[in-house]
Amino acid sequence: MEKKTVSMSKDFVENNSPKSSKLKLPILGVKKIIAVSSAKGGVGKSTIAVNLAVALKKLNFKIGILDADIYGPSIPQMLGINEKPISEDGKNLTPISKHGMQCMSMGFLVDQDAAMIWRGPMVASAIKTFTSNVLWNNLDYLVIDLPPGTGDALLTFSQEILIDGVVIISTPQEIALLDANRGIKMFQKLNVNIAGIIENMSSFISGDGKEHFIFGKDGAENMSKNLQIDLLGKIPIEIGLREGADNGKPYVEFFEDSKTSKEIIEIAKKIVEKVK
Ligand SMILES: Nc1ncnc2c1ncn2[C@@H]1O[C@H](COP(=O)(O)OP(=O)(O)OP(=O)(O)O)[C@@H](O)[C@H]1O
Ligand SMILES: [Mg+2]
Repeated sequence: MEKKTVSMSKDFVENNSPKSSKLKLPILGVKKIIAVSSAKGGVGKSTIAVNLAVALKKLNFKIGILDADIYGPSIPQMLGINEKPISEDGKNLTPISKHGMQCMSMGFLVDQDAAMIWRGPMVASAIKTFTSNVLWNNLDYLVIDLPPGTGDALLTFSQEILIDGVVIISTPQEIALLDANRGIKMFQKLNVNIAGIIENMSSFISGDGKEHFIFGKDGAENMSKNLQIDLLGKIPIEIGLREGADNGKPYVEFFEDSKTSKEIIEIAKKIVEKVK
């Protein structure tokens, strides 16, 4: 049969959408689902999702990464993927292999300009279709980069997919914490297991060794205490993390022995425990 690329047009979504179900469903080919979320945009959710996925791979697990951020898919660029996925049957998609992981992004399929004006149910439907049509191969963990906010897409996802643990990313900044708090409340209402909070951009260490608390100090740590949700770890502002994201070379893959990579690997170990 001729191989085709698939475009997630409105018709494709409507024709291939699974029937609505009140049951939370697992994803075929995946043992555990770890979702990465942040109610606020731009706090490093995708960067952390990619590097956590690499960290889990370094712990010898079979890993997939799913970019479900329909409005701002950035995982392909962060992983340096230039090709589009292929479908053998015009319906199911084979993930793209990169850095020893199986990868799939809604950004491969959804026309960005079109998606911006889709209504909530359409977005939700696209995510469902997409999730059930990827041929994941025997994954220990699928790391999902969820869309930011607490909108329709996120709601559908959390209501219909069996997430084993959600990791909340926040900077220590007051305004990010307020949003993170809202996100946590939403997941609690939806009975999604919260694996913990990661404080990203917790500080910056300058060349002279001084630590600068650019976004405030210990904000996420204090919030985790107040809400009794575990702080999984703190990740500093690290130029290599930014460079790796821009260049498609995940930091933990290329600088495994750095202090920050070791911290991220420690966080990955804690998440494994949390979703057991
Ligand atoms: N710890 C960090 N140190 C340095 N740069 C970082 C760090 N975390 C994230 N960044 C950079 O900050 C920017 C935003 O990160 P990222 O795109 O991962 O955030 P996001 O929460 O996924 O954003 P969006 O809401 O747009 O999806 C990127 O340029 C990224 O490289
Ligand atoms: Mg992102």
